[in-house]
Amino acid sequence: MDVTIVGCGYVGLVTGTCLASIGHTVRGVEKDTKKLKTLLDGHCPIFEPGLQELMQENYSSGQLQFTDNIKAAVKDAEVIFLCVGTPPKPDGTVDMSFLESAAKEVCDALAQQNNEYMATLVVKSTVPAGTNRKLYNFLKQQTSAYVQVVSNPEFLREGSAVKDCLEPDRIVIGGESPEAFRMMRRLYDPLIKREENFMTMAWESAELTKYAANAMLAARISFMNEMTILCEGYGADIEDIRKGIGSDGRIGPAFLRAGCGYGGSCFPKDVAALEHISKAVGHDNLFVNAIQTVNKNQKRRFVEKIEQKLGRPIAGAKIAVWGLAFKADTDDIRESAALDVIRYLLDKGAKVKATDPKAMENMKQVFKDEVEWSADPVSCANGTDAVALLTDWPQYTTLPFRKIAATMNSPIIFDGRNCLHRDVMRETGFQYYPMGRPVVENTLRLKRA
Ligand code: UDX
Repeated sequence: MDVTIVGCGYVGLVTGTCLASIGHTVRGVEKDTKKLKTLLDGHCPIFEPGLQELMQENYSSGQLQFTDNIKAAVKDAEVIFLCVGTPPKPDGTVDMSFLESAAKEVCDALAQQNNEYMATLVVKSTVPAGTNRKLYNFLKQQTSAYVQVVSNPEFLREGSAVKDCLEPDRIVIGGESPEAFRMMRRLYDPLIKREENFMTMAWESAELTKYAANAMLAARISFMNEMTILCEGYGADIEDIRKGIGSDGRIGPAFLRAGCGYGGSCFPKDVAALEHISKAVGHDNLFVNAIQTVNKNQKRRFVEKIEQKLGRPIAGAKIAVWGLAFKADTDDIRESAALDVIRYLLDKGAKVKATDPKAMENMKQVFKDEVEWSADPVSCANGTDAVALLTDWPQYTTLPFRKIAATMNSPIIFDGRNCLHRDVMRETGFQYYPMGRPVVENTLRLKRA
């Protein structure tokens, strides 16, 4: 099929590349000249495992093309994806201006061409309930083009976006037009393994499904993070509780990992938006308020723990921060726990050294010379009073800890992701503070003393 993707950001690029790889002809429209040049040079502007290779393969075969000419790009398009940003406004509501202007531009281009066939406009961007219906009514008034609007929320995770896109556990389509539903069914056909995984529903249901999914996942994390306080109070282990409840088929094991709070471009934004969507129908949503409060508190609690357990005043202490990305396998620092934790540490007068395998350049834009930057975790820990681990990069679990301990002023690790092995910490002489788990005492140091 002929597909146009308006907006080659994270979602647009992944979606377009994956659709090209299953045989569709995809044209990506990008207005940002710098990003467009990168794409036209055959480079992927973001770090996402597997994307660069798949993009290049389809770009060189001509299956995937890029342009800034929206008019030419929608000319023969049967399906047009709107993948522009819907960022939060300062008051937490959603900024719809990019989506509205992109939709208008597409329809103007379609109307000028007097196409007789129906184009399906697909809203991939996460938008508040009611938006697709409003957009459809707006377009009906604005244009004579024959368009249908469907909502098709994306459930991609950064770091595994290509896999998530090519092996979706469900495809949700919201709308009112059976013709548009059929078009979407045809588009996604190679990816549909079981018919029940292709779901059609009302626009509003599809829109709310996206918010509900992210809020539910964020709620699980916040619930577990709140439980860490009880674990620390009573000497229980949050990891045992995770296994204990995760084995219940009704609960399941995913998204129950405690730590210093969730981040990223979706959970914080979507949970905050749900609060406002609730207010818009006169409801103060206590549940989503609690999810956010716990998440905020958890980062502060992490820093307070450092302050209490450091064994010296935090002002003037040197803290090594391992991990700046909001999670492993990405260079994305949006709403990353590291943003808050580093700020709190600096405010308390600590000196911060920081490292990350992928996200350091992005974080340098934020903290500039307020932070000392290190190329790797070993040099980062050198001469510091403690390590604060904030991203669960797998390579952090296999470091030469004994060697690292020997270079630190005091071998202490505060594990904000509960990803290090307790036995390794014990054997290598670290004082180890995970979240909601019993502390590993530095017995080697005691023995030496
Ligand atoms: C999320 C949703 O998973 C995805 O479906 C949606 O389309 C976009 O938002 P993403 O933001 O890529 O994806 O990250 P995800 O893997 O869900 O992790 C989000 C945050 O939660 C990260 O900061 C991660 O460290 C944290 N997390 C995740 C936990 O703290 N504990 C967990 O058990 C899982």
